[in-house]
Amino acid sequence: MSNVLIHFAHPALEKSRTNRVLIDAVRDLPSVTVNDLYEQYPDFDIDIDREQDLLLRHEYILLHHPMYWYSAPAIIKQWEDLTLEHGWAYGKEGNALVGKKMMNVFTSGGPQEAYTETGFHQFTVRQFLTPFERTATLCKMIYLPPFAVHGTHRMTDEEVLAAALQYRTLVQRLTADDIDITLAQQSVYANDLITQPYSL
Ligand SMILES: Cc1cc2nc3c(=O)[nH]c(=O)nc-3n(C[C@H](O)[C@H](O)[C@H](O)COP(=O)(O)O)c2cc1C
Repeated sequence: MSNVLIHFAHPALEKSRTNRVLIDAVRDLPSVTVNDLYEQYPDFDIDIDREQDLLLRHEYILLHHPMYWYSAPAIIKQWEDLTLEHGWAYGKEGNALVGKKMMNVFTSGGPQEAYTETGFHQFTVRQFLTPFERTATLCKMIYLPPFAVHGTHRMTDEEVLAAALQYRTLVQRLTADDIDITLAQQSVYANDLITQPYSL
C-alpha cells in the first residue's frame, strides 16, 4: 500500500460544481490524506514543518485544483515557494522527496480539444503544466500525467459524478500500488489508465 496526499486548492469551494464532487469522492479512502490548503491557510501562512512532515509520510503527492489562468490557484504557488526548500527538496543535499510521485489533478472550463497547438488555447495541457513537471523533477520526484476534467461549464451532474468515480478509482489504484508507473509516464492523461471507471 502507498499513502496518497492530496493538496486540494479551491479558493471558492462554496461556488464549486466540479471539484467539490471530485474531492468528496476520495475523502473517505484509506491511506489518503486530503490537505485543504485554503481551509488550512486562509492567510497564506504556510506551516512549513507541517507540510514537509506530510510530504515525508506519503508516496504520492497530488495537486488538485481548478485550472486558473492556465495554472493553479495562488496558494499552490505559495505552498511550493515555502515548502520546497533548498537543501531539503532540491540541491545537492536536498533529497527528502527522491522517488516520490507527483501529479496534477485539475478541472478546466475549456474543453479538451481546445488544448492543442491548433486549438483555441494554442498549447497542450502538458505544455501549460511544464513548471509543475520541472519542479517535480528538480526535486527528484517522478512526474505523472495529469488527471483532467475538461469542459466543466457544459458538464451535466451525471458527467461530473462519472468523473468523480473515475478519480476515486485512480486514487484507490494508486494506494493499492496497482498503477504501472512506466506505463503511466507514457500516457497523456492519467484518465487513460482507468479503464474500469466505476468502483465504489
Ligand atoms: C480566475 C479563473 C481563471 C480561470 N482560468 C481558466 C483557464 O485558464 N483555462 C480554463 O480552461 N478555464 C479557466 N477557468 C475556468 C475554471 O477552470 C472552471 O470554472 C473550474 O475548473 C470549474 O471547477 P469548479 O466547479 O470546481 O469551480 C478559470 C476560472 C476562474 C474563476
